[in-house]
Amino acid sequence: MTQHLTLRRPDDMHLHLRDDALLRGVLPETTRHFARALVMPNLVPPVVTFADAQAYHARILAALPDGTDFQPLMTLYLTEATSPDDVAAAAAAGLVKAVKLYPAGATTNSASGVKDFTKVQPVLERMAQIGLPLCLHGEVTDPIVDIFDREAVFIDRILAPLRARNPGLRVVMEHITTEEGVAYVRAAGPDLAATITTHHLILNRNHILAGGIRPHYYCLPIAKREKHRLALRAAATSGEAHFFLGTDSAPHVDALKEHACGCAGCFTATTTMPLLAQIFEDDAALPRLEAFTSLNGAGFYRLPANQGTLTLTRHDTPQAFPAKILTEAGPVTVFDPGFPVHWHVTS
Ligand code: DOR
Ligand code: ZN
Repeated sequence: MTQHLTLRRPDDMHLHLRDDALLRGVLPETTRHFARALVMPNLVPPVVTFADAQAYHARILAALPDGTDFQPLMTLYLTEATSPDDVAAAAAAGLVKAVKLYPAGATTNSASGVKDFTKVQPVLERMAQIGLPLCLHGEVTDPIVDIFDREAVFIDRILAPLRARNPGLRVVMEHITTEEGVAYVRAAGPDLAATITTHHLILNRNHILAGGIRPHYYCLPIAKREKHRLALRAAATSGEAHFFLGTDSAPHVDALKEHACGCAGCFTATTTMPLLAQIFEDDAALPRLEAFTSLNGAGFYRLPANQGTLTLTRHDTPQAFPAKILTEAGPVTVFDPGFPVHWHVTS
């Protein structure tokens, strides 16, 4: 039996679009389904100032496929030298919707991130005043802390004190991967939300390592034990307003993934919507998919919900998806969920 599901057009509230040849290659994979995306600033060099964000925004618009009304929502990369006035001007202009904090060394291109949190306190105070959200890569970088514990330790050591110092600061814990993250968000008030990726709803750490090492499942934060994946599934499918989609779709060309020291990132832009429909169907939560993909993120960022719609169709037979996207920078492998997906976007 064919089944259709029509949603408001979704938003991807955490996306890596890169630049130049890779940008041109991956951008249509997002604009095909999504109306807006919050674009991460971890380019080399990073998008630090209002002027950087204006220039990157113009490059994204120039790379858009014809006939799309896709809107990139820009972010600034917080450094210890970031000026509160520059951030406030970028927000007042309506161009920049959030500031991203990477602890220095936590992930791809995070070398210019924050080491000494006292240095960014004036920026955080200004953001709290003007209501501009702070997006956090929530992992400690202390080499002594086990990679599987870095998110939970971040909550205790960094996030809780940071929020206590900055009452009213609106915070998004990006790409949560643990039951501790889910519990922390649920216990907090309306100033805290979390994004959840598609791949963290699918992977546990066995998928990366058991039976061979799978570089295309390596991302940061790394996928955790099964109980954590189940906590994320329950959170995403709950419909609760503080959980929403941020794919963290993070393209790297295959040569850099299939490598002795491979880059972190799962490229999910192409198939996220069919995969999420399958996941929500399997968890008997299809009526709550729209909240996760199209309403909760817009609500937190105080944006109007999209007017357009996206329709997915369920087929009796599993659907085929491209294995790779060919870009001028090289091939990029599309995330393989490892289970049959019966849904396809039809319009
Ligand atoms: O897996 C990831 N890839 N996690 C991040 O935090 C960064 C991203 C990237 O930019 O490649
Ligand atoms: Zn990311």
